[in-house]
This record gives sequence, C-alpha cells and structure tokens, in this order.
Amino acid sequence: MSITNFPGSANSSPLDSSITKVTIPALAEMKRQGKPISALTAYDYATSRLVDEAGIDLVLVGDSLAMVVMGHDNTLAVTVDEMLHHTRAVRRAVRRALVVADMPFGSYHGTPAEGVANAVRFIKEAGAEAVKIEGPRVALVEALTVAEIPVIGHLGLTPQSVHRMGGYRVQAKTTDAAQQIKADARALEEAGAGLLVLEGIPREVAAEITAELTIPTIGIGAGPDCDGQILVFHDMVNLSFAPKAKFARRYADAAGLFRAAIEHYREDVEHRAFPSDEESYHLSSTVRKELEAERTETLPVKQLRKA
Ligand code: KIV
Repeated sequence: MSITNFPGSANSSPLDSSITKVTIPALAEMKRQGKPISALTAYDYATSRLVDEAGIDLVLVGDSLAMVVMGHDNTLAVTVDEMLHHTRAVRRAVRRALVVADMPFGSYHGTPAEGVANAVRFIKEAGAEAVKIEGPRVALVEALTVAEIPVIGHLGLTPQSVHRMGGYRVQAKTTDAAQQIKADARALEEAGAGLLVLEGIPREVAAEITAELTIPTIGIGAGPDCDGQILVFHDMVNLSFAPKAKFARRYADAAGLFRAAIEHYREDVEHRAFPSDEESYHLSSTVRKELEAERTETLPVKQLRKA
C-alpha cells in the first residue's frame, strides 16, 4: 500500500480552501439555474475519494451498504453504529461534495426526539452534513429542521418499507397513489426538507413533483426530469452481484476488471513470477560484502562441527 496519499499526508486535508464546498443552498441554486445535480452513493475512503475527485455534487452514505457492502438481502439490518463507521470513512475522503448519511431502519421510527438524537450522532460523530430519511415523516422533518440538521426526504420506492410493499415495486402508479406522493412531497418541503429523493416512480409523476417543488429532486428510477440523479455506486460499476435494474445503467465492469487482475496475480504467485527482483528490497553492496566475508570466515568452523 502506498502511504503517500492517505490521511495524514500533506496533500490529503479535507479542509482545502481552494475548493468550493457543495451545500444545500448551493444545490437549491443549481435547481434555480437549471443545472443538473449529480449524486452517487459511496461507503469507504477509496471510492468516496474517486467520486469526489470526479466532481460529483452529493455523496450519499446509503443504507444500501447493508446489501452491496455487507451482503444482506435487504437494507433493514444495518445499525446506526455501522452507518457511523462508514460515514466517518467517507467524510475523511470528501472535500467538495455534500456528505449525506442515510439514517438506518429503526433509528427514526419512534418519536421525533429519538430521531433527532440519532441524527445528531451522524452530524457530530461522523461529520455528515445532512441526513436522509425515508417516507412522509413530516413531524420528524420539522424537528430536524428546528435542530439545525439539514434533512433529505425519500419518497416512492422506499427500500426500508420492503415488507409493507411486498417487494421492491414501482410506486405511485395509480391516480390516487400519484396524488398522495405529490401531497407528501409538498408536505416534506413545507416541513423544511432541503432535498427530495424520488425512487422507483413513473417519470410523469417525478416530473410533476419536480416542477412543483422549489427544493431539488434527485431521482433513481424516476426518469430524466428530476433536478438530479443518483445511482448506487456498486450498481454503476457492476459490483453488486444482483440482476441489473431497468434504470441502473452500468458505466464500467469493475467485477470483470477485478476478477482478471486477481486471477493474474494468483497465476503469477503460482508460477513464481511475482515478485520480481526489481520488486524486492536489496542489501547495500557494503553490507552484502560484510555478510559474505563473515560467511566465508565461519564456514570451515561449521563444517568441522558437522564432521
Ligand atoms: O441507500 C441508498 O443507496 C439510497 C439510494 C438508493 C437513494 O437510499
């Protein structure tokens, strides 16, 4: 591992004054100016650093990490402590993008006061700049806003409701459901949400919500008319070991790339082609000569002992 570009080295401070930090008001301004907002999930230092350096505006430490990083079947099992652990790693990597932490299932489903207390941990202990919660939880959004915690709503296909929905299904397909989600979106905006993620809903519904709200909408499986788009990092680079969803465009085949590299390495080790002499450390010629001289001096004694 190279240690030169890791935290603690001169060029790795997240507090670089030459970089203009993305904020919630900056994202609202992008909506006003009609500039699309790019967002991606990320869960660790290396990938967050790549995402940030590529100029992505918002990094979400999504609870999707339960599935794509931890191998669970759904997002429900991940805990606050696990989410905090990953959010800290992302925070260390990101200099420009807005860092948003997803509040995991169970951490905001009790009283608003309990939700605020857990949200405070993401801001205080992990350096998140906003939290995301699923569903039309208007009272909680109000309480978070009063507590100065920027909050991002998430409507439509909300993965934490997988059991209620009976699977991951496109939502808001009927007239009533479309009216309901529009009303929920308005209520979240009025309660103080700074952004709204729209997941797994018809393009037409997402377009209407986007046109109606002043806060930006970020779509995932919600068509191209949202103010921005988000994808799960592992879906985007083919690392999620799951069938590709209709909306999840693959921009790279990291699984193929990594697999080929790993197999090549294994073969090199098996054929003693790795490491080479150039990849090995060497003694200085002085020390080598001294050791050689010592060896020739002691050799006859050893041979005598054997005899
Ligand atoms: O957890 C997650 O990755 C998300 C995105 C799908 C928006 O909530």
